[in-house]
Amino acid sequence: MTLPIGVLISGGGSNLQALIDRMEAGVLDVTIQTVISNIPGVKGLDRAAKHGIFSQTLSHRDCPDRESYDRVLVRALRDAGAQAVVLAGFMRLVGPELLAAFPGRVLNIHPALLPSFPGLHAQNQAAEHGVRLAGCTVHFVDEEVDHGPIIIQAAVPALPGEGAEMLGNRILTLEHRVFPQAVQWLAEGRLDVQGRQVVVRPGERPLATRNDLPPCLIFPPLEDGF
Ligand code: GAR
Repeated sequence: MTLPIGVLISGGGSNLQALIDRMEAGVLDVTIQTVISNIPGVKGLDRAAKHGIFSQTLSHRDCPDRESYDRVLVRALRDAGAQAVVLAGFMRLVGPELLAAFPGRVLNIHPALLPSFPGLHAQNQAAEHGVRLAGCTVHFVDEEVDHGPIIIQAAVPALPGEGAEMLGNRILTLEHRVFPQAVQWLAEGRLDVQGRQVVVRPGERPLATRNDLPPCLIFPPLEDGF
């Protein structure tokens, strides 16, 4: 069973690329029905075009308020046939209308170990705070910022003095692994949300055996192909 999804972006789209790569490798069972950017001309739109994926720019600036922008997004996602929505570096809050249109089917990736450092520039916040472990989180989206039930997290050591950019790059490498995995669990219908707890039901794939990751801790563990 293949899950038709819409991917929302605001920038470079390296997480979008990670999804496309796993999809084209035949391990991620989704079709990307549309990529939507709220910012014109971003690299993520070129990535979509290069892979023959329908993309569109829908600027929030063309809407008078958040609610009307949400409605524009919902219409575009539905018209494209999306049944779930993946926020891949989408730097806008989504509101109740979009969440109601895709209940339990909106995922976000955030470059911090939530609930630490929600909001913008999470990698900078972590570096400035002097944390010893940083990382990323994939979670269901709810009406609060970077807040919904957590699906998977990856932690990396934060090296003293390395600065936000290097730390951010090391986090991004892991984002590209955990995000497609979480989307695959959604596609397989294996995510059970019980309050704030997300249970990943057992599947058929064995755990990943690839040994090409930098020092990190990922939980739940990645499965084969991710
Ligand atoms: C990623 O680091 C993603 O986690 C972050 O934006 C970056 C997008 O990169 N998202 C947020 O900060 C959302 N709060 P990408 O465009 O190369 O995927």
